[in-house]
Amino acid sequence: MIEGLLKESVRSLTPYKPKSYKVLAKLDANENNHVALKLNDKIIEELKNLKINEYPDSDSTVVRGMLAEDLGVSIDQIILGCGSDQIITLIINAFIDKGDKILIHTPTFDMYRITNQVAGGVTLEVPLGENFEFNCAEFIRVMKEEKPKVIFLTNPNNPTGGVIPKDDIIQVIENSTGIVAIDEAYMEFYKDSAIDLVEKYNNVVVLRTLSKAFGLAGARVGYSIASTELTEAINRVKPPYNVSSIDQLAAKVCLENKEWSKEIIEEIIDERERVKDKLNKLCNIKVYNSEANFILFNIKNAKDIYEHLINKGVLIRHFGEQGPLAGCLRVSIGTKEQNDLFLKLLEDYVLL
Ligand SMILES: Cc1ncc(COP(=O)(O)O)c(C=O)c1O
Repeated sequence: MIEGLLKESVRSLTPYKPKSYKVLAKLDANENNHVALKLNDKIIEELKNLKINEYPDSDSTVVRGMLAEDLGVSIDQIILGCGSDQIITLIINAFIDKGDKILIHTPTFDMYRITNQVAGGVTLEVPLGENFEFNCAEFIRVMKEEKPKVIFLTNPNNPTGGVIPKDDIIQVIENSTGIVAIDEAYMEFYKDSAIDLVEKYNNVVVLRTLSKAFGLAGARVGYSIASTELTEAINRVKPPYNVSSIDQLAAKVCLENKEWSKEIIEEIIDERERVKDKLNKLCNIKVYNSEANFILFNIKNAKDIYEHLINKGVLIRHFGEQGPLAGCLRVSIGTKEQNDLFLKLLEDYVLL
């Protein structure tokens, strides 16, 4: 009976269940392992004064104010979400009716397609090229023909790590008749951003998160920056109290310690380059260039290697044996010790 009552668009969905193993090095979800535990003391101190009996500030004013000041935009241009996942949902809920179209490049982050499916929308996909590069001409051709209401560009892209040149982003915006959402979840590791385009184009929204560079994935805090007109439109579907007071407090403490995060980001970028060089020296491997805090590579016996690493206490991400990511593994950049353990186990396996 319950199956029959479900929305038609939801019937083919299965619950999203990230793998959970007890491991020495968790390198599967692009988290920031450098920050683990260090922020806790500061958060605990402030928690002592938190009125947990009261509903949180529905507008997340303090954190939005800090972000606005940092980014040089007005507070009215920012929405705080329960992760940038929720911002994606808000955009889809605000603009997509049953049968409306969104356009994405593939492979990319799965949540655009899943959220759009729940809304009853149609997802159009333009494949990335042989080296997972953005195919701007084809993307614009499909966009002009199909007139999607929402376009998602992920920069840097997950899971490939590749980037979309700024000129291509501008071309997409100039040719679009819909909302262009630029997901910059990993921007801090790339350092280029489309945020300046928000001032020029009122249909552009940039998505950011504190989950990656700032190590706050457990607190679930993401945000959007857009024109006040677009922000007001998206805000119409924002649930009240969407970010808990504990999460707002954690975000505030995290942003107060931004200088420390900057050092960590540099360490992660250096480690990414070191791991990339080491991987490139192995046989039967293709390593994709990454500007994020992870590296995607295609390797012989990917599934066996993935399982071998789990057995030795290192969890990375495997994408199955079908589709454009067949034979690909993605490793997040962890601490130096974690990266060394991963590299040693992989080298040992390959030399076996
Ligand atoms: C490209 C991209 N966007 C958004 C998210 C969601 O991040 P969060 O909801 O933790 O802010 C992720 C998480 O992996 C991601 O890879």
